[in-house]
Amino acid sequence: MTIQKVMVIGAGQMGSGIAQVCAMAGYDVYINDLKEAFLERGLSGITKNLMRSVEKGRMTEEEKAGVLARIQTTTLLEDAKNVDLVIEAAVENMEIKTKIFAEVDRHAPAHAILATNTSSLPITEIAAATNRPEKVIGMHFMNPVPVMKLVEIIRGLQTADEVYSAIEDMTKKLTKVPVEVNDFPGFVANRVLMPMINEAIYTVYEGVATPEAVDEVMKLGMNHPMGPLTLADFIGLDTCLYIMETLHEGFGDDKYRPCPLLRKYVKAGWLGRKTGRGFYRYD
Ligand code: CAA
Repeated sequence: MTIQKVMVIGAGQMGSGIAQVCAMAGYDVYINDLKEAFLERGLSGITKNLMRSVEKGRMTEEEKAGVLARIQTTTLLEDAKNVDLVIEAAVENMEIKTKIFAEVDRHAPAHAILATNTSSLPITEIAAATNRPEKVIGMHFMNPVPVMKLVEIIRGLQTADEVYSAIEDMTKKLTKVPVEVNDFPGFVANRVLMPMINEAIYTVYEGVATPEAVDEVMKLGMNHPMGPLTLADFIGLDTCLYIMETLHEGFGDDKYRPCPLLRKYVKAGWLGRKTGRGFYRYD
């Protein structure tokens, strides 16, 4: 299974980061999104990151030009016909993901692997929307993708061993570290991380401490690079809530109950950094 051409679906924070690291590792990349404006925003983020790498002496101007030349943009899922691997990084919504997978399955060549960057949704259910469930796999990158070393690789019920090996090899070529996990709600990363974030929100909700104090405790006390509430704002409070709901529904255990304050902020449109307000203000 040789992978050379990749399509990344979704030009948001995760999708553009994934496209960037793929192009940096020498893969030819299509980035797909619904609108040209989304593609332009994604590409401009990639260009900015690469410029910073040139300024810091980690990359030459020529290397930067080479990376950008390997990236093409498209609004057509039909272009999946040209690729060996699709990595879907659209919104965390099962209906949207299964629709994308059913369509991509029609266009991608028979040998192509279909991966999803879902942070918590069942790979097995996404795979069932295709006629190639043995070639469907989870490839969960962390934010910010260019910096974070981990990729959780999630086997669906029917994922073939050679598909797992191909994705494991590719992850190493991206200079990331693959960790194998099985298909359970939240996998490992979010099953451990999100209840901590949710508990941090409860401490604010119950008046135990201010957001600043909670973050200070976890940063200075546990050496976390960001406090849990800063991290929640960075991930997006809507995404945090969605993942907590997936855990709550998936395990049926009250310990995953989303904090009412998290629900309230999401209802108010306070989604964190991306909307300018979450637990903190970003002006
Ligand atoms: N894109 C590319 N590079 C970035 C970046 C971005 N968005 N943000 C920061 N960087 C780079 C900077 O350029 C800098 O590089 P150099 O040292 O080479 O100059 C480096 O990262 C460190 O950045 P800063 O000095 O500005 O800031 P920092 O030391 O606070 O690090 C951080 C920033 C790496 C984001 C760090 O705060 C951190 O590790 N935070 C925790 C991130 C985390 O937990 N991510 C996982 C989220 S959960 C998830 O993604 C899964 C999910 O499903 C929800």
